[in-house]
Amino acid sequence: MKYEAIIFDLDGVICHTDKYHYEAWKAIADKLNIEFNETINNRLRGVSRMESFNIILEKYDGVMSEKKKLKYAEEKNDIYKELLKNMSEKDLSKEVRETLTELRNKGAKLAIGSSSKNAKFILNQIGLGDFFDAISDGNNITKSKPDPEVFLKAAEYLNLPAEKCLVVEDAVAGLEAAIDGKMDSSAIGDAVSSGKATYNLDSFKDLLSILN
Ligand code: BG6
Ligand code: MG
Repeated sequence: MKYEAIIFDLDGVICHTDKYHYEAWKAIADKLNIEFNETINNRLRGVSRMESFNIILEKYDGVMSEKKKLKYAEEKNDIYKELLKNMSEKDLSKEVRETLTELRNKGAKLAIGSSSKNAKFILNQIGLGDFFDAISDGNNITKSKPDPEVFLKAAEYLNLPAEKCLVVEDAVAGLEAAIDGKMDSSAIGDAVSSGKATYNLDSFKDLLSILN
């Protein structure tokens, strides 16, 4: 096999949390009288919580202290975590579940490479709490995508060199992280049009033909 492992981004690849991020950030933006819409929300994909807030604050009329920023980011996370409680095994599509199982049966190691500090909570909600061979997430990194740290850590946890790992991403920041980490990548969703991935997926199950 060309690749011994697949490292999946979580939000937007394995499941969809966009609407919850949007709702939670929107509550904070409204409170601060900041313009916030879907287009700005799309720019938050793959980047850390604090970097996301800094992007939102581009529309803020004034300067906010770091202490206040932390307070609002924490408040956003409290709202977001409440919303995540709505997630269940129903939020894992049949296609993703079956493809993951087939990939594992082919002998591939499967890992998560996510900027989120809530990755484990989300995986538990959708019934994949014990499924992956390694989880690298927002809790074990100091720099978020497009820095390759989160993927390099995943490879390290799997005990594999970067060139044996294939990254799956829906965000351009994630594809750039894979390139910087010398890993091949597969784009899905919005990231496809960037042309930055080694492979473009029409559908999640297309991963099976890449691994063949
Ligand atoms: C990524 C999302 O997976 O996690 C980003 O694509 C988000 O939009 C980032 O900002 C951080 O998430 P969390 O859960 O740590 O606030
Ligand atoms: Mg994503």
